[in-house]
Amino acid sequence: MPSPLDLSATRVEWLASIDSTNDEAMRRARAGDPGGLWIAGWEQTKGRGRQGRVWYSPHGNLAASLLLIDPAPTNLAPQLGFVAGVALAEAARDLLPVGKPAQLKWPNDLVVGGAKLSGLLLEASQLPNGHLACVIGIGLNIEASPDGLPYAATSLRALGGDASAELALERIAAHMSVWLSLWQRGDDFASVRKAWTAHAAALGQRVSVFAGRVQTTGIFLGIDATGQMILETDVGRETIAAGDLLLTADSVPMPAEDQVIDGNG
Ligand code: BTN
Repeated sequence: MPSPLDLSATRVEWLASIDSTNDEAMRRARAGDPGGLWIAGWEQTKGRGRQGRVWYSPHGNLAASLLLIDPAPTNLAPQLGFVAGVALAEAARDLLPVGKPAQLKWPNDLVVGGAKLSGLLLEASQLPNGHLACVIGIGLNIEASPDGLPYAATSLRALGGDASAELALERIAAHMSVWLSLWQRGDDFASVRKAWTAHAAALGQRVSVFAGRVQTTGIFLGIDATGQMILETDVGRETIAAGDLLLTADSVPMPAEDQVIDGNG
């Protein structure tokens, strides 16, 4: 096995138009790219979102994917969604006007005032040569956000930010390098979890999570050591691995001392 790649060393490639930067990054992995590569598209023609949804990527918005090869043992690779979420939240602080704080909505949407500004799509694939390829795809609404979605969406421009897609990627890549180093290939998920929690939306509030048609409602206590959501429901504490979080209208904040903020990774 080659010595592990320094996860913070990255190259950036901008493409005028691409089907999906995630698909292109995975193609590069199959063609033997060693990883540490950002693929950014000025436009995506087949941008993909979570759970098979379409992701709207017009010219001017940021669509970018980071390819990593063997970033961590396979069972720890899903933590990358939280690593990237923290990096994205910190980059948003650099890009948004003061007084417009961005928050992370579990599992890894970035929202401002409840409206979605950015989404993450993490994909992994075992390559024929035995290596694990992980692709972290980031869609950031810069110039425009789509209409007619079942949730509110916003853009950097609508929020008063003036950054370009290049600057946004530069900030995201810088924070990602820092957090990949801190994460230590999964050895320090505790630090990531703590930072993620500090940026979390709806912590201590009553929320509903939809996993397919199954709805679970309860107080959002935080994420556990594997990134699953912890909910205090009417019938006890439950952990949820995947789903869509809906912030309910009757959200009631709970006392800070009951929130799960710290803990072992
Ligand atoms: C979501 O919130 O549903 C995730 C959206 C992820 C979109 C990004 S844009 C760059 C990368 N390429 C894709 O096809 N999808 C991700």
